[in-house]
Amino acid sequence: MSETVKQSQSFAQPEANTAQTELGSYRHFMQKEIFEQPRAIADSLKGIETVTPAWFGERAAAIFSKIDSVLILACGTSYHAGQAARHWIESLVRLPCHVEIANEYRFRDGVPNPNALVIVISQSGETADTLAALTQAKKLGHTYTLSICNVAASSMMRQTELRYLTRAGAEIGIASTKVFTTQLVALFLLTLALAKERGRLTAEEETFWLRALRRLPSAMQATLELEPQIIAWAKTFAHKAHALFLGRGLNFPIAQEGALKLKETSYIHAEAFPVGELRHGPMALIDDGMPVVATMPNSALFEKTKTVLREARMRGAELFVVADFDTPFTDDDGFHVLRVPEQESLLSPILHAAPLQLLAYHTAVLRGTDVDKPRSLTKSVMEE
Ligand code: M6R
Repeated sequence: MSETVKQSQSFAQPEANTAQTELGSYRHFMQKEIFEQPRAIADSLKGIETVTPAWFGERAAAIFSKIDSVLILACGTSYHAGQAARHWIESLVRLPCHVEIANEYRFRDGVPNPNALVIVISQSGETADTLAALTQAKKLGHTYTLSICNVAASSMMRQTELRYLTRAGAEIGIASTKVFTTQLVALFLLTLALAKERGRLTAEEETFWLRALRRLPSAMQATLELEPQIIAWAKTFAHKAHALFLGRGLNFPIAQEGALKLKETSYIHAEAFPVGELRHGPMALIDDGMPVVATMPNSALFEKTKTVLREARMRGAELFVVADFDTPFTDDDGFHVLRVPEQESLLSPILHAAPLQLLAYHTAVLRGTDVDKPRSLTKSVMEE
């Protein structure tokens, strides 16, 4: 069997085994699914020896070499995964990438670009808005389409020429957790495949990124072991009515996902802003005791971010920071800091997602909400 064929995706849904659909020793499916992430990420990487477009379908190589941009359409958590992918695709592939909420795109009189690759991302593959956005994209003249879904037999997977099955396994909790991180891994693999096909990935870089990806499952496991620290944070959040989440660049979608998780599961009003936007309005929301969560990698913008956070603290905010292992904080910064294990900076946002999921989970448990079935929500939004 050729290397390419051997590594290409099987689109058959792996059987959902009883272990996936039963709670076991966990109290809720959301908690169980958060802790399944090391396994789900490892499954996503199983059998990968080299980077190949064949992961996405037979015609992927031909299509990847022809396109001049990427358009990602999705809703909710899947939209946040798409927003993170934009940063990877633009910086590693140097292709323009636009990300749009599917329920906006479907009704917009958008200008089509037939040379763009349209990517739809969905856990269920049945989200009415995302399916309608795909139909709209095709109606406008788009021909290159790729779906990234967690359900092999879904409508979305049948409606695109290229497809990729995420390896999260059955996700029962309404709040999506392990699907989000497997979507991120899938989108990073897509970034590598696009880069390789377009001559932007050297053999050394390919080895480097595959090694970094292989470290992710154990780094995720070590991140989840920080749970006791998060439970302590959740005790503060459980008594709050509002919370702000901040991030920059690649970490902004992670902050948005953290805010979505908290509001879905605990019904606390939570909003996410890019750090730099705080001074353009949201700073007015900050008064005594307002919890502010920041996802803060060790990046060149660290000092700028810290200046804004200090300003928020002076106005009464209590700062909860998810940082990289080496983000340079000092004791007198006065923030609560949780550090994720060492990881390449482009991949560390995947780790930052987990403490925010745990924060939402434990806050919801303390508030006594129905964690797996939050009020007014369904697992897949199939109605118009
Ligand atoms: O199945 P999909 O990924 O297309 O669903 C999109 C959103 O409805 C979904 O991500 C929703 O936001 C979740 N409840 C998030 O936890």
